[in-house]
Amino acid sequence: MQDDDKRLAAEAAVGEVRDGMLVGLGTGSTVRFAIEALARRVAEGLRIEAVSTSHDSAAKAGALGIVVRDFATIARVDLTIDGADEIDARLWAIKGAGGAMLREKVVAAASTRMVVIADASKRVAAIGAAKLPVEVLPFARAYVAERLAMLDAAVTVRDGVTDNGNLVLDARFAAFPDARGLAAALDATPGVLGHGLFLDEVDATYVADDGVVTRLERADLSG
Ligand code: A5P
Repeated sequence: MQDDDKRLAAEAAVGEVRDGMLVGLGTGSTVRFAIEALARRVAEGLRIEAVSTSHDSAAKAGALGIVVRDFATIARVDLTIDGADEIDARLWAIKGAGGAMLREKVVAAASTRMVVIADASKRVAAIGAAKLPVEVLPFARAYVAERLAMLDAAVTVRDGVTDNGNLVLDARFAAFPDARGLAAALDATPGVLGHGLFLDEVDATYVADDGVVTRLERADLSG
């Protein structure tokens, strides 16, 4: 059921893809459905190229016949489709459970349009219950962990490294702080290379709930 909703949300977003586009591929189990839907359209004749936010998505897309270009040579992307761990009605998201949030944020920033696809379990009244992943230069691990603890987060170090060779600290907040202030504090902390707070990047969401897909556009939000 949850997988059906992930697939429906993914297929709705892939419906936005047009001939000639450079498409950004996010990372995660929901995006896998988008890659599969995109590959089906490519097999039917759609002419697109892609860039990927992770080795995992690049491998999946390449194996299904999608041309994946090296993002290091790319400055602009037309449409990026990505998942989220939490998304709220302001289109604020927490991302990075899969550890790809740094590349995801760069590709989102380079994108004319970025859409999040999700099943209804990701939709929340206000982001903050999910752990917030922070990508950290290994050299700065203890320093950044202490800074997060000073912000009242319980911090755990994830096993392994990201596609960029860095560490991920997962920060869980008993009371989630002001998101903009937190993002600014993290952005200003030396050794922090990226984090999973996406406050301005998401242009629209496709959320599927029990077979019904709802699209929400940032442009339609009041205030
Ligand atoms: C990857 O690092 C994340 O940002 C994913 O986009 C997010 O965790 C959603 O993944 P799922 O679709 O697997 O839930």
